[in-house]
Order: sequence, then C-alpha cells, then structure tokens
Amino acid sequence: MSDLKYLFEPRGVAIIGASHNPEKIGYQVVDNIKNGGYRGGIYPVNPRGGRVAGIDACGSIFEVVGDVDIAVIAVPAVHVFDTVKGCARKNVKHLVIITSGFSEIGNTSEEKRIVAFARDHGMRVLGPNIFGIYSAKARLNATFGPQDIRPGGVSIVTQSGAIGISMIGKSKIENIGLASIVSVGNKSDIDEADLLEYIMDQDDSKMVLMYIEGIVRGEHLVEALVKATKKKPVVVIKSGRSKRGAMAAASHTGSLAGTDEVFDDIVKQCGVIRAEKIDEALDLCRFLADAPKPTGNSSVIITNGGGVGVMAADASEKYGVGLYDNQVALRDAFGGEVPDFGSTKNPVDLTGAATAKDYDGALGVALKDKRIGSVICLGCETSMFDAEKFAGVVTKKYDAYKKKKPIVFSVFGGEAVEKGISRLRREGIPIFGDVYDAVSCMGALYSYHRDREHNSGVIPEVNFDERAVKGIVGAAKAKGRHFLFAHEAQEIMGAVGITVPRSRVARDIDTAVKCAQDIGYPVAMKVVSKEIIHKSDVGGVLLDLDNDDEVLAAYESIMHSCREAVPNAHIEGVEVAEMVQSGVETIVGARRDRAFGPIVMFGLGGIYVEVMKDVSFRVYPLSTVEAMSMISETKTYPLLLGVRGDERKDIDSVVSAIMKLGAVIKGCPDISDIEINPLMVYDQGQGIKAVDVRILLGGDNS
Ligand code: ACO
Repeated sequence: MSDLKYLFEPRGVAIIGASHNPEKIGYQVVDNIKNGGYRGGIYPVNPRGGRVAGIDACGSIFEVVGDVDIAVIAVPAVHVFDTVKGCARKNVKHLVIITSGFSEIGNTSEEKRIVAFARDHGMRVLGPNIFGIYSAKARLNATFGPQDIRPGGVSIVTQSGAIGISMIGKSKIENIGLASIVSVGNKSDIDEADLLEYIMDQDDSKMVLMYIEGIVRGEHLVEALVKATKKKPVVVIKSGRSKRGAMAAASHTGSLAGTDEVFDDIVKQCGVIRAEKIDEALDLCRFLADAPKPTGNSSVIITNGGGVGVMAADASEKYGVGLYDNQVALRDAFGGEVPDFGSTKNPVDLTGAATAKDYDGALGVALKDKRIGSVICLGCETSMFDAEKFAGVVTKKYDAYKKKKPIVFSVFGGEAVEKGISRLRREGIPIFGDVYDAVSCMGALYSYHRDREHNSGVIPEVNFDERAVKGIVGAAKAKGRHFLFAHEAQEIMGAVGITVPRSRVARDIDTAVKCAQDIGYPVAMKVVSKEIIHKSDVGGVLLDLDNDDEVLAAYESIMHSCREAVPNAHIEGVEVAEMVQSGVETIVGARRDRAFGPIVMFGLGGIYVEVMKDVSFRVYPLSTVEAMSMISETKTYPLLLGVRGDERKDIDSVVSAIMKLGAVIKGCPDISDIEINPLMVYDQGQGIKAVDVRILLGGDNS
C-alpha cells in the first residue's frame, strides 16, 4: 500500500521560502497554489512575515496553525537541512524540495543527510531539484510552472524538470487534461516506482506518462510497471540511449546489454508502450486516456486515396494493427457506400470523388458493424473534399462513438485542412496530419489490450546444486581470480544440469593422448591458463584432431605458440574435449545488471554475435511463456522452428537453460556474468550442448 495519499491530497501546504518578490520561485509557487483553486490551508513561510501573493505569511513553520501535509521548500540549499528539521517538529508528512544544488552537482552527502533525517522523522522527500507537484484531485498546483492546468485523465511523472514544465504548457495547447504531474528530480527518496504504485490505484488517472533519464532501483520499477500496466496504459520516454555502460563489459552479454537494449526489452516485458519523442508520447496520451477497448481484433481503413490507404496498411503491419479481411462481409457492408470504381476491400476506397456525405455513410457502417474492431479514417484534399464539411462529419461521428469504438483520423492537404486538424485536435479528437502517427496510436491501443490479456504464465522454481556452484566459485575467488577456467565452468554446468562436451585437462603430452583415446576421436584441444583469455588469438585452440599423432603435434604446437605469445603465462595444461556435432548455434547469457538486477539474454550464437546483435533480454525471474517470447522475437527463431525441411529444434531445452543461468545469477551473488556461446541446439528431444562457457566473478558489471 502506497503511503503517498497526502502528497496528492494534502490538507495543508506550507511554502517555505515564500518570497515577496513575484519574480522568485517561492512567490510563484504560492501564487499558483492560490490561483489553482486549492481548498486546503495555504501557509507561506517567510522570516520577514508580511503578505505573499495576497496571503499572510508566517514567520516560521511553528507559527502555522493548521496541519501541514506538504512543505514545499524553496530556500537556498545551505538552509534546507535546518528547514527540514523544523518540518519534522511540525509533523509534516511530505517534503517537496524544489531547491537545486545537491547530488546533481556532486553535493550528495548533504542530500543523503536530509533524506536520512526526513525518513527518521517519518517524512518522505520528493526531489530535490524539482519543479513541484500538480494534483487535479486536490486542485493543487504546487509548481512554479504554468498557472492554469487543464484537469483530466493523464498522470505524468518526469525526471526532467524543464521537460515536465514544457509538457504542462504543451498539454494545455493540445487540450490534454492532467490528473497529476510530478517532478522527481534527483529521486533521493520518492522515485518513479513509488509514484506509479500510488497512481495505478487512482481512478481519476486513466493513463501514465513517464519521462525517465537514469534508472536507479530497476527491480522496484519493473515490479511497479508490471502491476500498473494491468490496470492502465503506461507510456515511457527514456532518453540517454547510450552504450556507455556496456563499453567495459568483458562478456558478449555485457557488451550487448547496452542500457537501451535492455531497457527496451524489459519495458516490453512489463507491457509498457515506449515512445521516442515527446510529441509522439503526448499523442499517445491523448488517445489512450480516452479510447475505449477495440470491439474486435481488426480494423477497417476508410480512405479517398489509394496511396494513403496503402501507407496506412503498411503502418498497420508495422504497429501491429490487424486489418479486417473478410471480403464477403466487407462487400456486404460497404457495397452501398462505395462507387463501382472504388473498392470495398480493406482499405475501403471511396475514391477521389468522395464527399463528406460519402464519409458520413461509410463511417456510419464501419462504426456500427460489430465485426469491425476499430476504424482508421483517412482523407486527402481534393476538389470534392470540403475540409469544413469533413470536419463536421468527424466531430459528429467521434462524439457519437468515442466511448464505443476506437477511431483515428488522418488528413493530408493544404491550409484549410491544416487549420481543420488544429481545431479538431483542440477539441480532443485524435486527428493527425501523418498517417503513421494515427496508426501508431491505434497500434499502441491494441498492444496495450493484448498485453493486458496476455497470460504471462507462472514463474517456475529452478533448482540446482547451489553448494557445488558456490564451492567452485569460492575456491577461484580465494586464488584471486575474477573468472573461472573452462573446466570449472563446465563443472558448474554439471551442477545446474546443462550438458557439456566430454573433456579432461591433461598436464603432460602422454596424458593428452590418453584423454583423447578415452573421449574418442575426433577431439579439440585448448590451452588452460589464467593469463590467456582469448585462446584462439594466441594459437591456444586446435580442432578436429583425428588420431594420436595429431594430438601429440597439437600439444606441442599449443605449448609453443602460447609460450611465445604470452611468455609470462603460467600454463596449467591443455583441455582435451570431444568435437561437438553441429546444431543451431545460439548464445544464452545471464548477468547482474546494475539497475535491473539479474537479467537473461538469448540470441544467435557463434563468432559474429556482436556483429549480428540478434539478441533479446528479460529480467529474471521470468515465466516460461516470457522466455518463449524472448526466443521468438529474435531472427534466430525460425532456425529453431526448422527451415528448409529441417526438424524443429529442442526449444524447451533452450528455455530451461535460460532459466538455469538466471537462477545461478540470482542465487550466487559472486557470479556477475555467465554465458554459453555457442549453445548448440539439436533436434527436438536431442537436447542442447554448452560448447563454450564463460563465467566472470565480481560485483556489478553494468
Ligand atoms: N525560511 C523561510 N524563508 C526563507 C528562509 C528560511 N529559512 N531563508 C530564506 N527565506 C526567504 C528569503 O527571505 C526569500 O524571501 P524574500 O525574497 O521575500 O526575501 C525567499 O525565502 C527566497 O530566498 P532567496 O535567498 O531569495 O533564494 P532564491 O529565491 O534566490 O533561491 C531557490 C531559492 C529558488 C530555492 C534556489 O536556491 C534554487 O535552488 N533555484 C533552482 C531551482 C530549480 O531550478 N529547481 C529545479 C526545477 S526543475 C527545472 O529544471 C525547471
């Protein structure tokens, strides 16, 4: 249960640092609260007393007579801690610290001191470094942003103050109503996940838009997102699409797990809709806050132009909007509305001769027909197309059906059309100049409802021999190593139940031959040395050795090349291993992500992993259904299904390997990365083989 009720519905608000100067933030906050229609107690606090924005100011918080649920703090950073101490004595519940000058400029200790004190005294901290909070429910505009905010159904949580303030302005012009907008700034205490947990249960909020820059408590955010998206749509804009975090990574999983790739897949896992641009996000907000659930799985496109119709069909494929394709039903339904030279196929083409009346007829049919789940209505300016009359039809149909069936409009043309679009948008109608913008909104609506109904399945319990794994890892760490040797990694595979090629380490040439005979020809040989990580690069790997003579020669060649290339290396011996039969080469990995905790990866394996980048990620734990979806969204998936007459491969074993690696990372904090490449996948029922296993030890690697 979230404890943020009084942040959104305070009974009294003190503004500490309420300035007499209208140019100052402390004044503007008081003025906004007063003019926003807040009905609780408004208590400006200024040591000089007087009146601020027409309200009597108290000399200190102790002079305030009523209860104070929120203290908005707008005094310089050096005074914030003392102010917070006063708030504790006044039993304030929430501190909204607008002041900048804390962790964002390296003053982290002062920020920590304030938060620790606040938490010790039962207060929660929003900020610092924020523009404040707006809550429609309380008619509270405790921000220094624009004054009149339009109340409505969209809740915005933003890490960037400037973007948040701009969004208030933009939502006003676009006539998008807000249920709340909260600035989280430095997220010293209250973060996006806390706010989401509160907002998801508020009926006045129909959807949530989040602007995120950096993620700190990723596991908490994932939990909140999973719960929230079951209740309402969540759109996320995340900036900072950099690969910086991945640069230093020592495994493929690490280098492929750039912050953005991981984030993208994880938000998908949580059922979140991701927007790249602010305008796109606001369009989604307007549409998703009001749109009813589609009445069926597929949509009908109505157009007066073949070209835009085809573009909309392409966009529908791109954004996952199914198109209704029962040709007989379409002919029956639209036959009376479409001229002989038009088309009743979907897109329904009314032709360039279409008038507003024709649109009225065709839209009427599409909106009434129960088999049609939603409507995409397109128009191109022609001499027959009267923008004014068309706008009249749009308004009439939208008003009549806005609660019954989703509909989006896109019109393309000159000045009259552009003016019409602006006017209709201001009225809250989802109309766009670009076809793709219209269809992407419809796609987001379908995707939201699909994800909501999608049963993400049960998370299975994964057991493995934890003692054995920890024993191997502990021994390696005791020797100061940050990785495991191949044979140790193989032992770990044994402990978790993933098959590896038969192999043994030989410490002299005669034993190498004996090992090869025992394993059976052909064999592979690899150098074992903690100083040599990239074995092939120094001639430390030889494959397809067919007899004793080849093994003898290989042993000498490996020793010679490795000693020459890395003279100081301590060579423990040579690993002699079974040559593995070919199968589909995949990669399976797991690592501890700094923000999200344990994550798992699946993709196309082999030496071109980082070139092809055909990988997907999920947070662990996950259900087998989710693991399947992770596999099926890669381009490698058809290879596992069997192409050109090939048998289907053992996908269940791959799912099981993903689960096992995730469980090892979660259960053994000393392991930071674990990766199998290639993981050979054989025909259904024939299992998998972990050919090369790399395990890194240590803490976070992101
Ligand atoms: N208790 C009560 N009032 C006090 C106290 C106190 N302990 N100390 C000072 N005051 C009063 C002052 O007397 C003054 O009132 P006055 O103008 O009537 O004399 C008022 O509080 C403000 O104090 P100033 O010292 O004038 O501080 P100023 O207003 O210049 O700056 C502020 C304070 C706004 C908090 C500043 O330090 C700051 O951090 N600015 C940046 C804020 C920001 O950008 N936040 C991120 C927003 S998000 C985005 O990027 C858009």
